Amino acid sequence: MAKQEDVFKKVVSHAKEYGFIFPSSEIYDGLSAIYDYGQNGAELKNNIKQYWWKAMVQMNENIVGIDSAIFMHPTIWKASGHVDAFNDPLIDNKDSKKRFRADVLLEDYCAKLEDKAQKEIEKAAKRFGESFNEDEFVTTNARVVEYREKQKTILERMAKSLTDNNLADVKALIEELEIADPDTGSKNWTEVRQFNLMFGTKLGATSESATDLYLRPETAQGIFVNYLNVQKTSRHKLPFGIAQIGKAFRNEIVARQFIFRMREFEQMEMQYFVPPGTELSFYEEWKQKRLNWHLALGLGKENYKFHDHEKLAHYANAASDIEFKFPFGFKELEGIHSRTDFDLSAHEKHSGKKLQYFDNERNESYVPYVVETSVGLDRLFLAIFSNSLKDEVLEDGSERTVLSLPPALAPVKAAILPLMKKDGLGEYAEKIFDDLKFDFNLIYEEKDSIGKRYRRNDALGTPFCITIDHDSLIDNTVTIRDRDTMKQERVAVADLRRIIDEKVNFRTLLSKI
Ligand code: GAP
Repeated sequence: MAKQEDVFKKVVSHAKEYGFIFPSSEIYDGLSAIYDYGQNGAELKNNIKQYWWKAMVQMNENIVGIDSAIFMHPTIWKASGHVDAFNDPLIDNKDSKKRFRADVLLEDYCAKLEDKAQKEIEKAAKRFGESFNEDEFVTTNARVVEYREKQKTILERMAKSLTDNNLADVKALIEELEIADPDTGSKNWTEVRQFNLMFGTKLGATSESATDLYLRPETAQGIFVNYLNVQKTSRHKLPFGIAQIGKAFRNEIVARQFIFRMREFEQMEMQYFVPPGTELSFYEEWKQKRLNWHLALGLGKENYKFHDHEKLAHYANAASDIEFKFPFGFKELEGIHSRTDFDLSAHEKHSGKKLQYFDNERNESYVPYVVETSVGLDRLFLAIFSNSLKDEVLEDGSERTVLSLPPALAPVKAAILPLMKKDGLGEYAEKIFDDLKFDFNLIYEEKDSIGKRYRRNDALGTPFCITIDHDSLIDNTVTIRDRDTMKQERVAVADLRRIIDEKVNFRTLLSKI
């Protein structure tokens, strides 16, 4: 079995074993691509939301947050283009009976070409040492140039065929490149077909009077249809933003890879309303701002890259993904799109209501342009969780599993551990718990040896373990152990709040952006 698969398996089993993520409806054998967050998963998820909300809403004077309903008027999805164009091109393998997204098969093929190009670059970098000039090498080395040109040709042809709805050509491309089912190697493909991803439901008491609705496939439309309400009541001038965190639903056909691609998931989206003609400079600005937000988490600069889109969605005039190196390779984590005035103009047309903004400086009314940042909360959870999970061999040869989560995001900030319950240690530890519980999420544990309790908390990602022993009763000091360095220090109980706060507060994290 490939190493990547082992790593990923470990991520999934650790998430379950430590109360982060469970398969939904598990006692009924689960529901495909739907997951529940357990006690620690819910805390971690809430902390990620807070990090986003504080950075986007609280720290930007001109961005406000809303919470719109999941059910929306069905015409919204006609106006947004989702009824007609929110499709995935699907292809089935006739032998394995497995279904794939045709565009993903082609993109994966290109990713392999890029891996080959990267290997050539790495080899040359080693060979030439300090004198290596990467910019020159990638434009002159025949193999790298060939790999990159081939990728470009494939992606451009795919983009054109999908835009023209020429699905026969998408299939022809797959066949020309001899792309096989990654699991079985079979090249026996069906035709490519379009499949709409929205879930339908009904609103109303009787079947005759019921209205057909959709579960929203993105939170963004809730922002667009409220744009004028928010602009008028907040009195913000352009540019200003509206942010939202909420559930979205997509009937994903190829729903694999745990919480990477789910049918029910959460998005954190922000629409930035700007004057027409300024959108591309705001788009560049938001690309950088969003990357910096990710980098502040400290998961490693080398694990992120931009992927600028060749094939633009029907609403965009520029689009890029921030990709992250997941255990299964670089994949989309966040999308940054310049959505033009497509959505607001479409809603004007379909609703018959004016959605114009009067610009005092330009002395004219217009429909604002929009730059969107959209990150999947669950996908971000997976990025942070999988990157933080490590097996370490310690100096004495023993091993430990540690979840080195960014401290501000850790579900539990400190574990309160009396060495034993008797001799008054339990009561003393409870007092510490009762004092710190107003500031931090804590756990209190009496069972098992102290070593075992340390290990369990390392695996949970708890930044601090606080041990109460007999000396604590005499001098009001405790041992505090740091998750990452495993160093233990004797500190005064009166200093605990400050010591924990310095490491886990959001200010420390937010000031790195
Ligand atoms: N409003 C724009 C929009 O929805 P998108 O690229 O379709 O754009 C944005 O989605 C982000 O939502 C993605 O970058 C990804 O992180 C997340 N996302 C999309 N589909 C998902 C799914 N099925 N499961 C989990 N996350 C998903």
